[in-house]
Amino acid sequence: MQSLMPPRPFISAADLARRVQELGAAISASPRTGPRVILALMDGAFVFAADLARAVNDPELVLVFRRASSYRGTSSTGQVSLEAPPELAGADVWVVDDILDTGRTLAKAVAACQAAGAASVRVCVCLDKPSCREPGGLPHADLVGFDIPNAFVVGYGLDLDGRFRHLPDVCVLDGAAPPG
Ligand code: IMP
Ligand code: MG
Repeated sequence: MQSLMPPRPFISAADLARRVQELGAAISASPRTGPRVILALMDGAFVFAADLARAVNDPELVLVFRRASSYRGTSSTGQVSLEAPPELAGADVWVVDDILDTGRTLAKAVAACQAAGAASVRVCVCLDKPSCREPGGLPHADLVGFDIPNAFVVGYGLDLDGRFRHLPDVCVLDGAAPPG
C-alpha cells in the first residue's frame, strides 16, 4: 500500500457542520408536489448524506442509497457505473453526492432519476471542483457546500482506495498524484 504525506486539514469539521445545517434548511424549504426523496450516492456521500438528512426538517423525507463509482486511485476512469434508482414516480428528488468533479456521475444519476419518473430532480453536493468539468458532465449543482480548487481531497467520506473516509475534516493529500 502506497505511503503518503499525512492528510492536511483543508475544511474543518466545524465548518462542514455549519454549512450542512444551511444546506439542510435549503432542502427543507425547497418546493415539492410529491414525496421528497434524497438519493445518496455511495460510497463517498455516506457521511455527508447522514449529516444532511438529519438537518432536513421534513418528517416524511425518504432516504435511499445507490452505489456509483468511477474513480481508481486519484483519477477518474471516465466510465461511470451506477445502480438503478428505485421507482420515483411523482417524487421531488435531491441527488446527494460528496463531490462534483467531471460531472459525469451526477449527469448519469440525474438522467436515471428522470427516467424513473421523478417530478423534479435537483442536486446537492458537499464539494465542487468547478474547474474540472468535462463535456457531458453536469455543469453545476443546485446546492454546493464549498467550491474547492483542483486538488485531490479525502475525509468526510471521501477516500483514496478506501482510506481516509473516516477523517472528520476534508483534507488535501499533498503526496497524491494530481487528478488526471
Ligand atoms: P465525477 O463523475 O468525475 O464528477 O466524479 C464524482 C466522483 O468521483 C465522486 O463521487 C467521488 O467519489 C470521486 N472524486 C472526485 N474527486 C475526488 C477527490 O478529490 N477525492 C476523492 N474522490 C473524488
Ligand atoms: Mg462518489
